[in-house]
Amino acid sequence: MGDLHVKETGTASFKDLFTEISQAADILVLTGDLTDLGKPKEAELLAADLRACTIPVVAVLGNHDYECGHVEEVTAIFKDAGVHLLEGQAVEINGVGFAGVKGFAGGFGRYMLGSFGEPAIKAMVAESVEETMRLENALRQVRSERAMVVLHYAPIPDTVVGEPQEIYAFLGSSRLAETIDRFPVSAVVHGHAHRGTYEGRTPGGAPVYNVASHIEKPTGRPYALLDL
Ligand SMILES: [Fe+2]
Ligand SMILES: [Fe+2]
Repeated sequence: MGDLHVKETGTASFKDLFTEISQAADILVLTGDLTDLGKPKEAELLAADLRACTIPVVAVLGNHDYECGHVEEVTAIFKDAGVHLLEGQAVEINGVGFAGVKGFAGGFGRYMLGSFGEPAIKAMVAESVEETMRLENALRQVRSERAMVVLHYAPIPDTVVGEPQEIYAFLGSSRLAETIDRFPVSAVVHGHAHRGTYEGRTPGGAPVYNVASHIEKPTGRPYALLDL
C-alpha cells in the first residue's frame, strides 16, 4: 500500500487497517508518501499507528516525505519504529528479497528527459540516473529466488494511465524498468500516481502494481495482496 499521506491533524488513524493487514498478510510493504508534508510530527503519528502492525514492515519514502526538509529525522523515526526503510538497499524477509528506492521522475520510453541544455535539466536527469543506480545496487544484494522491487515513482507508463497525460513525465521513469529487467524480479510495487492504474508489466515481463491507497484493487480495500 502506498500514499498514506498522514497529516499532523491526526484525523485519519491507520490502526484498524494495520490490524486487518496483519491478519491478511505476512509482510506489509509501504511505497512512500507515508507523510503528507514530511513533518516529523506526521511520521510520529504513523509510527504510533504502526504499533498495531504485528508483521514486518518494509518501506521506501516518497516525494512528500521530503517536502519539509526533515528527511533525516523522518527516516530515523520510521527506523526506530522497526520499519525496514530502504534507500538503495535490500532486505530479506521470509525468503523474499526486497530491493527498494524512491525512484524519480523523468518520463517514459523515447520521450524520457535527456541530459541536455541547462544545468538544472542535467541535474534532474542525473538524479533519475542515480536513483536507478541505487536500485541496481539493491538488486545486486538480493540472494533469494523471489525478489520484490519497492518504489515510489512508476517504472512504466501503464500504471500511471488515468492521470493527465501532461504529467506522466513527473510520475516516473523508464530508467527504473530498464534496470529491473536485468534482474529476475517477481513483482514491482509503486505508488505516487493516485489516479493511475493498478496493474501493468515492464517490457521484460515483470508484473508491476500501483498500490497507492487511492487505487481500486482486487481486494476492494486500500491495500493489495500479492503472492510471490
Ligand atoms: Fe502520493
Ligand atoms: Fe508522491
